[in-house]
Amino acid sequence: MIYPFQEKSMSTPTSHNFLRPLLVLLIFLGCLMTFFFMYGNSSIRWLYDPVKTADCPSPVPVTSENKISKTENSVTTLLIWFLPFGTNHDLSACRSLFNIEDCFLTTDKSLYSKADGVLIHHREISRDLSNLPNLQRPLFQKWIWMNMESPSNSARLPGIANMFNLTLNYRLDAAISVPSGSLLTEANEDFVLPKKENLVCWIVSNWNQNHERAKYYNEMRKYINVQVFGQAFGKPINNDQYPSIVSSCRFYLAFENSIHKDYITEKLFNPLSLGTVPVVLGPTRQNYENFIPGTSFIHVNDFNSSNELVEYLQVLEKNETMYLRYFEWRKYFKVKKPHFWIEHACRACEHLKRHKKYEALHGLDKWYWD
Ligand SMILES: *[C@@H]1O[C@H](CO)[C@@H](O)[C@H](O)[C@H]1NC(C)=O
Ligand SMILES: *[C@@H]1O[C@H](CO)[C@@H](O)[C@H](O)[C@H]1NC(C)=O
Ligand SMILES: *[C@@H]1O[C@H](CO)[C@@H](O)[C@H](O)[C@H]1NC(C)=O
Repeated sequence: MIYPFQEKSMSTPTSHNFLRPLLVLLIFLGCLMTFFFMYGNSSIRWLYDPVKTADCPSPVPVTSENKISKTENSVTTLLIWFLPFGTNHDLSACRSLFNIEDCFLTTDKSLYSKADGVLIHHREISRDLSNLPNLQRPLFQKWIWMNMESPSNSARLPGIANMFNLTLNYRLDAAISVPSGSLLTEANEDFVLPKKENLVCWIVSNWNQNHERAKYYNEMRKYINVQVFGQAFGKPINNDQYPSIVSSCRFYLAFENSIHKDYITEKLFNPLSLGTVPVVLGPTRQNYENFIPGTSFIHVNDFNSSNELVEYLQVLEKNETMYLRYFEWRKYFKVKKPHFWIEHACRACEHLKRHKKYEALHGLDKWYWD
């Protein structure tokens, strides 16, 4: 990079001009830092905005070379390789829903060679990987592995071990972590406990004898009458019925279909937001407490047997003071659930925007399935 004034200073090597190259270098460094602060960290951008008017030479000249392969520098392009579950989305919603600017989401595969990132939903990857992009991967491009199913419910494909750059998952240690729900601090004084008609309820669509949750339920029902609904019990319910059924129950069995670290799904967050006390079966209590307050739920592992659990539920049934303590958190928090799947795509794009560094991922299969 040679700038006009640099050339000039070097062509006049008098003693007076001896310091000019140094001065030019200092000016250049100053401009470089200004550029770095202006574009490197948008949260402090306002601090440096006034200096934008300074006449700095562009530190990165736009050449035809770096123009062919990438889209406009300020816009991040994310190619959604498979639309999860084939659903339709408004791909321009990152800004309106999440305040994420300059993200361009597309499903147009012809933009592959320009895309900053490619979002790939695990469930749709074919076993022989033949439906993944087969063109040469541009050096700057990151592939994002997206999966919201637990390891038990996801096919282990050894071929994907060293192929991706980022994970997008419910796990808290994923590069892009999108849990099935979270609590946001938001004062909310006017919670009214919904009218209760049932003591314990459970809605389940897939019944599997070998699931931990089926075994626990079979033990529990010896001591208490559980109101069951859902496909598994020949009592399917629709989305309109769901909230009123769940909120009419004092306790709801928020039993996960498989037990894995951080695998805490809408089976917890829905009942939690609907004004019932979730009785959880899943990862450890400690793990749940990374997501929600310890006083907002009952964990099956808190008891030595299902019989003991049932006795405790019956104590709470009779003592409203004790029962209401499980709703204290509602004064300070609100349940927030992600928008499936647009939020996942927007968060992925946001990550690409914020983390320009090289990121490779090795041993994805071990990380997820071991
Ligand atoms: C479970 O059993 C242990 C010892 O057998 C006892 O100390 C503990 O209090 C019991 N827990 C509950 C909740 O009853
Ligand atoms: C309900 O529980 C509270 C707190 O444990 C206790 O102080 C109160 O006496 C109990 N009420 C009844 C009716 O058992
Ligand atoms: C992405 O990851 C792959 C494999 O893990 C690696 O070959 C590639 O260089 C990485 N690219 C970037 C931009 O991080």
